[in-house]
Amino acid sequence: MTLYGVELVRCSDPEEVAYVVGNELAAAARSGMSIVLTGGRTPGQAYRLAAEHEPDWSAASLWWGDERCVPPEDEQSNFRLARENLLDRIEAPPREVQRIRGELGPDEAAHEYDELLRGARLDYVLLGLGADGHTASLFPGQPTLQERERRAIPAEAKLEPFVERVTLTIPVLASAPEVVFIATGEAKAEAVERAFARPRGPETPASLIRSAAGSTRVVADAAAASRLPG
Ligand code: 6PG
Repeated sequence: MTLYGVELVRCSDPEEVAYVVGNELAAAARSGMSIVLTGGRTPGQAYRLAAEHEPDWSAASLWWGDERCVPPEDEQSNFRLARENLLDRIEAPPREVQRIRGELGPDEAAHEYDELLRGARLDYVLLGLGADGHTASLFPGQPTLQERERRAIPAEAKLEPFVERVTLTIPVLASAPEVVFIATGEAKAEAVERAFARPRGPETPASLIRSAAGSTRVVADAAAASRLPG
């Protein structure tokens, strides 16, 4: 089903969402794609299934859509989430793992990542969705939504965890031929409706990100998609 140009993949429960996204990540790795990972609580199981479905990631490269400005071993680190649920579970590591060095602080980490992204091709971008409609660390009504020059910028957190962030910007996230949102649970239903079934606007940052040249999908369970038509 397509809503405002976004393909809806409606799953019955969070397990099926994890299975679908896990398979997509495994296939992307197998075909040597440049993959952008998300943080948050939702993708953990999908990362574990991706590692199970494909133990050899040597053809792939990994990036992050955002990071909290904490050390990589910190429990709030998006890198740690991916390390524990994916990187530590595969046999052959990616040919490139470009993590955001949040421990450097927002300005230096953002500048470093902005330079790293110069000329980089991103093939598959995975994004979460906050109950407020934010994605990556692009929060509602923030000036970060207008950034068009830089590829990675500092961002102020507008909800838990209240730590400084680094986020990729809208043009970079939309540059990938495959943009995939993952959302589960009733708490996300209103945000899913605003992001994918209402006119787009800065009050819902996720509504502002659509693949510029390819496909945009939302993989959601029945609870998260409960306010969508069909
Ligand atoms: C982060 C994420 C953020 C996340 C949403 C949803 O660093 O927090 O990148 O954008 O995807 O907040 O988080 P949950 O999956 O925990 O609901």
